[in-house]
Amino acid sequence: MTARIIDGKALADDLFGKVAAAVQRLTQDHGLEPGLAVVLVGNNPASEIYVRSKSMKTVAAGMRSSMHKLPDTVTEDELLQVVRQLNDDRATHGILVQLPLPPQIDPHKVIAAIEPAKDVDGFHPVNAGRLATGLPALVPCTPLGCIRLVKSVHASLSGLEAVVIGRSNIVGKPLVQLLLGENATVTVAHSKTRDLPAVARRADLLFAAVGRPEMVTRDWIKPGATVIDVGINRVPAEGDKSRVVGDVAFAEAAEAAGAITPVPGGVGPMTIACLMLNTVRAACGIAGLPEPDL
Ligand SMILES: NC(=O)c1ccc[n+]([C@@H]2O[C@H](COP(=O)([O-])OP(=O)(O)OC[C@H]3O[C@@H](n4cnc5c(N)ncnc54)[C@H](OP(=O)(O)O)[C@@H]3O)[C@@H](O)[C@H]2O)c1
Repeated sequence: MTARIIDGKALADDLFGKVAAAVQRLTQDHGLEPGLAVVLVGNNPASEIYVRSKSMKTVAAGMRSSMHKLPDTVTEDELLQVVRQLNDDRATHGILVQLPLPPQIDPHKVIAAIEPAKDVDGFHPVNAGRLATGLPALVPCTPLGCIRLVKSVHASLSGLEAVVIGRSNIVGKPLVQLLLGENATVTVAHSKTRDLPAVARRADLLFAAVGRPEMVTRDWIKPGATVIDVGINRVPAEGDKSRVVGDVAFAEAAEAAGAITPVPGGVGPMTIACLMLNTVRAACGIAGLPEPDL
């Protein structure tokens, strides 16, 4: 194995420590206790795990955490009502509605109902538009984490060839905007891209955000490239167990890459640390305080 392993857990711990210190200063100096409200609809086991760890991290950072659990039979109007109450709640600075939502609810409507200043997921069209036009915005946590991971290897991304596989609103598209903001030359690939391995091989920076277990193999990687694996895929393991793998075949990819994130322990922990960062940014924005430089 030749690649440097990018330790997402260590980088996330470092960011988390800085966020917690900033929270302490905000509380002591300004009486501001940032608050994150998480809304969970239904009993999706993966969502429950994500939500629990987000709430625990919020409390560990010294912030206020509130959880709003609704049954999977909840109507769209009832959910929108909860969002409106949180928009009006002065102790809540960040609102996160855990996706996916049950089929009777239009996620676009729910996201659009969140007050943009409290949209710590950065999914609201106002924040997406601000990001795309180069204005300050709350930026989706996973792409934000991807950029921090890449910058742990490359001091500057200017002029580098970046290939992003995946064009979702929550990962691929905002990641493209962030990379453009860093002056990378960006190619976006998706399910209709022709000769994807050849496109991927152009990349100095290769991001896989697809949701297909171990799709990216060694021959897709330009020797020495930095590979960021966003994928979280549960696959069968020995017996009736399962394990989590990324979108990149890690062991073989690490023989070609210069640096690579593991799954788990790469993008995942950074995503949660960036959610904490966004909550602090949102709280400062709402309180009219300068944001800490983290
Ligand atoms: N680590 C984290 O914190 C974190 C956070 C969010 C997501 N994730 C993971 O990241 C992965 C992507 O998430 P997402 O929400 O962006 O997924 P998504 O909304 O399903 O989007 C997947 C993207 O991959 C493209 N795609 C699908 N099959 C492809 C193929 N065979 N070749 C090339 N492109 C293909 C799709 O193309 P089309 O647009 O053409 O359909 C789409 O743009 C998932 O594994 C998810 O679990 C991880």
